[in-house]
Amino acid sequence: MAESMKGLKRTHRCTEVSRDLIGETVTVMGWVQKRRNLGGMLFVDLRDRSGILQLYFDEETIGKEGFEKAATLRAEFVVAATGLVEKRSSEINESLKTGDIEIRVKDLRILSESETPPFPISPDITVKDDLRLKYRFLDLRRPNIQRNLILRSQVAMLTRQFLAEEGFLEIETPMLTRSTPEGARDYLVPSRVHPGNFYALPQSPQLFKQLLMCSGYDRYFQLAKCFRDEDLRADRQPEFTQIDMELSFVDVDDVIDVNERLLAFLFKKCLDVDVQLPIQRMTWQDAMDHYGSDKPDLRFDMQIQDISDLVKDCGFGVFTGALENGGLVRGLCAKGMGDLSAKKMKKVEKHAKDYGAKGLAYIQLKSDGSVKCPFSKFVSEDKLQEIITAMGGEKGDLIVFAADQFKVVCDVLGALRLQFAEELGLLDKSEFRFVWITEFPLLEWSEEEGRYTAMHHPFTMPMEEDLDLIDSDPGKVRAKAYDIVLNGTELGGGSVRIHQNDVQEKMFAALGIPADEARDKFGFLLTAFQYGVPPHAGLAYGLDRLIMLMAQEDSIRDVIAFPKIKDASCLLTDAPNQVDQKQLEELSLKIEIGEKE
Ligand code: AMO
Ligand code: AMP
Repeated sequence: MAESMKGLKRTHRCTEVSRDLIGETVTVMGWVQKRRNLGGMLFVDLRDRSGILQLYFDEETIGKEGFEKAATLRAEFVVAATGLVEKRSSEINESLKTGDIEIRVKDLRILSESETPPFPISPDITVKDDLRLKYRFLDLRRPNIQRNLILRSQVAMLTRQFLAEEGFLEIETPMLTRSTPEGARDYLVPSRVHPGNFYALPQSPQLFKQLLMCSGYDRYFQLAKCFRDEDLRADRQPEFTQIDMELSFVDVDDVIDVNERLLAFLFKKCLDVDVQLPIQRMTWQDAMDHYGSDKPDLRFDMQIQDISDLVKDCGFGVFTGALENGGLVRGLCAKGMGDLSAKKMKKVEKHAKDYGAKGLAYIQLKSDGSVKCPFSKFVSEDKLQEIITAMGGEKGDLIVFAADQFKVVCDVLGALRLQFAEELGLLDKSEFRFVWITEFPLLEWSEEEGRYTAMHHPFTMPMEEDLDLIDSDPGKVRAKAYDIVLNGTELGGGSVRIHQNDVQEKMFAALGIPADEARDKFGFLLTAFQYGVPPHAGLAYGLDRLIMLMAQEDSIRDVIAFPKIKDASCLLTDAPNQVDQKQLEELSLKIEIGEKE
């Protein structure tokens, strides 16, 4: 039977009770973690969001009825207990903050009972994700998830504090709006008042924050909900949160400076980690050449090496053929992986093929001194030795090669580099390696659309020194765009924006966006630009990804209170769901579900 808490007031959270309070009377409230009966004595671990505190019951103190009530307690009952703080009568528990004390309870109230939960509330359970998410309200009681959400709250508060002190204003932008230019699919909301018309939920506040710059707010930020209908992965959710900002009268260095200090502030305050400033910068070209990725993980070295020149007449058709087709031959040397079994080598090859490789040429320098190299029959012994030397190969190493076009070579070797690091245990989650990636290409060629698309978005400023190339060789133009990368994850990205009409027109031309289409999509921004627009630049972090890395979690689901699963549904609420006919009629909508292609 549930009792009321009338006349009672909680005096402390569980772990706020300490040795200093011995001899005092306190009232604590929380959930029963577990109960142990030891004849005339009874112990209960009480849990709240702060941690665990031991309650001690004996008949002498609480009376027969009270003791019998305590004996009915089961896991997840909600109780209030009042009693004296004492030194522990039982063994001291070193692993608990309150491990040397307990409460000798003289008054117990059962505020609510609980059914047996579908899984125990403890940090180290191996419960299927689906069950955890269906009962997310229970999952959220687990101390590790609570720790993540507490960290998230702390980061949000500190971000606001830091940016406010730097002169930023927090301004909200609409959720019901027009399509924004981040390039994912939109979530649409039908309008009742305008039948047949739809709002789009924002993929980011991009256009609005640029308008705010036009309006003179000069430093804006927002913790903004963003919506993107794209395929989910461990670091992607259909709705997520950005720390979004925009600044006027600035260039690349100004944005980087304030953000480095923000990151250093957050890591120091929350984790007591010193971020070494300035953070390393690397151009996109260097990142691709050496790490095969625009989000290189720099916690380990293992750099890609180019052997194109060395092998151009080597006699191995796979290498020479790729070079004749305008491609490259590059390789990776994985220290200490030379003894992989044939079966494991097959797995490595499969991984390479998943990333677009046509095959995987390799040299295994086994630790017994023997060499396994499937292409050795095509090259001279001297040439093979030269290749091994160029790759820095030694006894015990594995050298792999990709011979293909630039993009494939980068994708394949970038992916293998990570796979090897994983295998070698080089990925230490408690190490934080930041890097800025700069000078991204402005445009990338889309085979699918047969035209260039913006690598960041259509308002990104080209680098001044490349402006002339925008008509003649658009693929070569570099952008004033930057990403902040942490441990191989893209934490955030941004750019300096175009504020001159002529440059914007050239950009739309390069993108193959006709003037009327530009007007239709972004007309309000272009109009605003006709009335005095300051030079401006900005950046947005994925807050969820930041917290995931700070909390050393593998998935952003573990740092979001109510996340969605892979197919973008919510197992707790069963969203998305069908709606009443009446609702559809109000919206002038008729549902016709055709066969999916
Ligand atoms: P961008 O599209 O790079 O830039 O997004 C910024 C950051 O948001 C995070 N992010 C995501 N996090 C979780 N789930 C997703 N589906 C998801 N998509 C993106 C990433 C990413 O780095 N308006 C520009 C910023 C600017 O130019 O100022 C923008 O949105 O961490
Ligand atoms: P093949 O002549 O196609 O049988 O290939 C000879 C060797 O080169 C095999 O070990 C293949 O896995 C490997 N190989 C084939 N294509 C490539 C490529 N594009 N890059 C690197 N290695 C390759």
